[in-house]
Amino acid sequence: IKLGVMASGNGSNFEVVAQAIANGQINAKIQVLIYNNPKAKAAVRAENHGVKSVLLNHRDFKTRADLDRQIVQTLRQHDVDFVIMAGWMRLVTQELIDAFPDRIINIHPSLLPSFKGVRAVEQALAAGVKITGCTVHLVCLAVDSGPILMQAAVPILPDDTVETLHARIQVQEHRILPLAIANIGNG
Ligand code: GRF
Repeated sequence: IKLGVMASGNGSNFEVVAQAIANGQINAKIQVLIYNNPKAKAAVRAENHGVKSVLLNHRDFKTRADLDRQIVQTLRQHDVDFVIMAGWMRLVTQELIDAFPDRIINIHPSLLPSFKGVRAVEQALAAGVKITGCTVHLVCLAVDSGPILMQAAVPILPDDTVETLHARIQVQEHRILPLAIANIGNG
């Protein structure tokens, strides 16, 4: 499969997908990385893997729809047939979803449907749940709400902070995101 990856930040999930492709765990190619934040480390990682990256800074667009139209055009230009949101921190519009129906997945740091949104790790800690985790799901218009493809559980330990908990959740993200993509690649 020809992947397009969208990322806003560190890009550790981009990294594990690129590695899983390099070592043959996933039969795919990353055609392009789209990032919206000029400082995103994901862009450096792309360069290290020889992956083309395109900066589409949301600040340069008047509306979300304008940004998403440019995203769709960029994905099409690079012949992408499946999209991975790996820490994409912008709300998406129907334009983008309709361009790749059932072909956009996201990784989220909670056991959905609990703790949607950008503060999922903090909210799980505050709620006092003893188990949280991460979810790979299909993207639909409502945030963090599409059909669930894969999940992994992570226990919350008594001394956890947002940072320590997020780090342990990321270990599981880095396991299930490549696995989910591999499954998609296998039909
Ligand atoms: C991950 O925790 C992911 O679940 C969330 O954003 C974070 C991205 O991390 N959507 P990274 O940039 O891949 O390191």
